[in-house]
Amino acid sequence: MDPIDLEFDGMCDTLKEEVEDNTDIIMEGALIARDRVGVQDFVLLDSHTSEAAFLNNLRKRYQENLIYTYIGTLLVSVNPYKELDIYTVTQMQLYRGVNFFELPPHLYAIADNAYRVMCSEYNNHFILISGESGAGKTEASKKILQYYAVTCPTTEQLQVVRDRLLLSNPVLEAFGNAKTLRNDNSSRFGKYMDIQFDFKGAPVGGHILSYLIEKSRVVHQNHGERNFHIFYQLLEGGEKDLLCWLGLERNPQKYAYLIQGRCAKVFSINDKNDWKIVRKAFSIIDFTEKDLEHLFGIVASVLHLGNIQFEEDSNGHAIIRNGTQIKWISKLLGVHLSILQEALTHRKIEARSEEVLSPLNVDLAFYARDAVAKAIYGRTFTWLVNKINGSLANKDSTRKTVIGLLDIYGFEVLDTNSFEQFCINYCNEKLQQLLIEMTLKAEQEEYEMEGIEWEPIPYFNNKIICDLVEQKHKGIISILDEECLRPGEATDLSFLEKLEEKVGDHAHFVTRKLADQKTRKSIDWVDFRLLHYAGEVTYCAVGFLEKNNDLLYRNLKEVLCNSKNGIVRECFLLSELDSRRRPETVATQFKNSLMSLIEILMSKEPSYVRCIKPNENKEPGKFDDCLIRHQVKYLGLMEHLRVRRAGFAYRRKYEHFLQRYKSLCPATWPHWHGPAAEGVEKLIKHIGYKPEEYKLGRFIKGFINRKKPLCPENIEFVRLVQYKYLMKLRDHIPRNVLDKSWLQPPSILEEVKFAAGPSVCTDLAQISEMLQKICIRNLVRKYCRGVTPERKVQLQQKAVTSAIFRGKKEGYQQSINLPFADTRLKETDINPKVLQLIQGEKVKVRKENWSSAAVSTSQALQPHVMPQREELIPASYSQYATPVVKYDRNGFKARERLLVLTQSSAYVVEMAKIKQKIDYATLKGISTSNLCDGIVVIHVPEDNKQKGDVILQCEHVFETVTKLCMLSNKQNLVKVVKGRCQTRQSLDEKQFQFLVTRNGKEPAG
Ligand SMILES: Nc1ncnc2c1ncn2[C@@H]1O[C@H](COP(=O)(O)OP(=O)(O)OP(=O)(O)O)[C@@H](O)[C@H]1O
Ligand SMILES: [Mg+2]
Repeated sequence: MDPIDLEFDGMCDTLKEEVEDNTDIIMEGALIARDRVGVQDFVLLDSHTSEAAFLNNLRKRYQENLIYTYIGTLLVSVNPYKELDIYTVTQMQLYRGVNFFELPPHLYAIADNAYRVMCSEYNNHFILISGESGAGKTEASKKILQYYAVTCPTTEQLQVVRDRLLLSNPVLEAFGNAKTLRNDNSSRFGKYMDIQFDFKGAPVGGHILSYLIEKSRVVHQNHGERNFHIFYQLLEGGEKDLLCWLGLERNPQKYAYLIQGRCAKVFSINDKNDWKIVRKAFSIIDFTEKDLEHLFGIVASVLHLGNIQFEEDSNGHAIIRNGTQIKWISKLLGVHLSILQEALTHRKIEARSEEVLSPLNVDLAFYARDAVAKAIYGRTFTWLVNKINGSLANKDSTRKTVIGLLDIYGFEVLDTNSFEQFCINYCNEKLQQLLIEMTLKAEQEEYEMEGIEWEPIPYFNNKIICDLVEQKHKGIISILDEECLRPGEATDLSFLEKLEEKVGDHAHFVTRKLADQKTRKSIDWVDFRLLHYAGEVTYCAVGFLEKNNDLLYRNLKEVLCNSKNGIVRECFLLSELDSRRRPETVATQFKNSLMSLIEILMSKEPSYVRCIKPNENKEPGKFDDCLIRHQVKYLGLMEHLRVRRAGFAYRRKYEHFLQRYKSLCPATWPHWHGPAAEGVEKLIKHIGYKPEEYKLGRFIKGFINRKKPLCPENIEFVRLVQYKYLMKLRDHIPRNVLDKSWLQPPSILEEVKFAAGPSVCTDLAQISEMLQKICIRNLVRKYCRGVTPERKVQLQQKAVTSAIFRGKKEGYQQSINLPFADTRLKETDINPKVLQLIQGEKVKVRKENWSSAAVSTSQALQPHVMPQREELIPASYSQYATPVVKYDRNGFKARERLLVLTQSSAYVVEMAKIKQKIDYATLKGISTSNLCDGIVVIHVPEDNKQKGDVILQCEHVFETVTKLCMLSNKQNLVKVVKGRCQTRQSLDEKQFQFLVTRNGKEPAG
């Protein structure tokens, strides 16, 4: 009989028998006896701060095959490395619907608890299973799935869904798991699976999200490791006809991609049997014969690709040594033989409108070959997940709740760690962070909220490492992407140098160059080391750029897009060839997918299973103290215990507690008529608990009554929330005028209806608004006080510039940060004769500004102050002067001139001559173009005195125009003209374009 039948059909039969049989009572008795070994909840340990006591308890229980122990509601599991009889249907039945703490610790209790809360509260859950590679995560997730498959209500119709859910596992494991040094069935991809339940609690569908499969394994395996299981399964178990059709031999030793780790055969793995399970699974998950033909065609093609060898022709170009493999690939992938041959030995280069084929050398041909193998395998895996999702999808649209199971590759430290380990370990950092956020941090905040006396427990927060890896612009992934995308010669070593430059001073980062003498010896020149939460890992930077880029030559992609193999064609869409956008790098895609995973998880109720690996040899019964101590440490189990211990393992709402235990006290039995909190108090006193053994939350009552108007039941709670909010506000108050953030008051405070009355003006929403206004006013005042008079004038001028040019003229944005000069020419730079002539003029100036012989430009340029008392005084010195280029209106000849602005007029000056004087009173307007040229046209009437419009080019156009219009008080007359400026003398387009292009700027259309 097939193992698959044994596993599931057998399980269901036994279930039926055992439900009728009453053996569970005996079973329970036996479990309770076994349970006396150590404590089944670490919270009950006498010396709860002692790591030794913790390990002792774990060891004692492990040696009695008690692999599960709780820390409150978190389950610690130690891999037994042997089959235990604790996963029978009888056991499942035992845990079904029973209160969490009433039975010994078990995965089933965690699964059942999540399920029952989901059914009663109709909310979504997830079970996070974490631990390092080989600790037992995948086994745990499979056992939970089996538990639901067996214990949840089902119908004949739903049995199909149940089987598909269960059988998706062997298929995904065949394609996504492999033997590594750490684990014979190591998950080389991340998996998050939602099981969907209907309102009756029946599993009705599912959905799988997969994360970054380790594609490099397809073409390379370390010593002692294997390629993905499916290759060996196919060769060992595949029917003769099938192998013949695929052109394969049964012997894995014949395939280069399978023997690099030199362990194609492993005694703990039965590839032949596993093949049968996978075959059966395929038929249940709705794969057609055509699908399978194409799928195995791809698997076989990868093997054939691995056997292709290249040699050099007389020109040093790569040619394929033997035509056999390529013929098989051409047949199985449905691609043209000669086109494939050419694509594997040439690269298509696009030069302008032409495409040129450039021959590859032997190294590049091998690179191209491996890239194809990785690409088709990786994409086929994604196709497989989608196909399974199609068969698990529940089509009806009624509301469902879900329990998610997260089983992701565990933390990994190898002898040589590469890009893959970097991604895997980063993923584990993220999950650790999630756990901290949702347990240690949240738990402590809850106690504070409850007003229960609390001594904060320190823990290591690994956010600092997550930031080091993922921070925008500054993190390792950003630096890696920058190196991958920048033009020029970027290499793994230049990436390493960039890391040293940008994160070299981070406490969790070190390289050989940065290390002290002692550490230096253990780091190579091409390595960088990260101090992860779970320990140090040294990564070899070689290959990081290539793996992050994950490029496949365009002509190879073209071949695959035109494949007749249905799966390949679905995986390589023609539309991809049209897209000129560079795809996101592998690390960034992975980072983004993890971010969305965290979001998915954060929206659900969590349960945790922490898996521990007892020894490095996969040996049953061996408890390696040192290895386990390390895991206990980095998994934060001691801190978790301390938080739980300080915070009481058993927490219940007053009502639930009273209902459950009221029979223990005559005052509460059979009915308690007063408030539940008081009933609990009576009950507890009657039982005789010591005060340090329990705490009554002060605020539960307040919380329950939070929507009522302020009353004695909730007033204390509301005050506490107010206080907490204000304290938090103190730490998050905006620190500068531009910071518009404001901490919103918790909704509870808005929900409370405040009774009107002079003594309770406590509507915090209003108070918060007032505080925000005060805060902004205060920041503004502080800012204004700090502004010097010079800066004030600058800002006023900039404000005028903004009003005129913002969004209208090119180059404005870049000019904002460039300060305006008082003047571009000193008076000594202007010919004294000219100055004398200008001084002869009389102008009106505000009396109070006239404090010295010369009015400073800054003072003069205060536009908003209207003169209160005016006097006729000499124009004195210039207010602003700058060199300009003036264009003749006839012939547009460029001439160097000075523009001098005084209080009353603008002067165009040539050496000792005033060429033109423009009285501000007669000024009709000022035009500039919207382009980034410096052309300014000053419009003046053409009469006897004036010569007409002046066309100037200024280097500091924004500054000059601002000064001119402020001095003349003609801001409203400035026009920013699209494309060209119009002069009264109707400068035609051709002429103006000439003018603009002469000055090196392209006129816009
Ligand atoms: N509860 C268990 N009972 C018996 N054997 C177990 C149990 N859990 C794990 N094992 C053994 O340990 C091996 C490794 O477990 P598993 O594949 O679940 O590790 P993992 O944590 O998923 O590792 P990775 O991160 O590499 O995928 C299993 O193949 C199995 O032999
Ligand atoms: Mg696994």
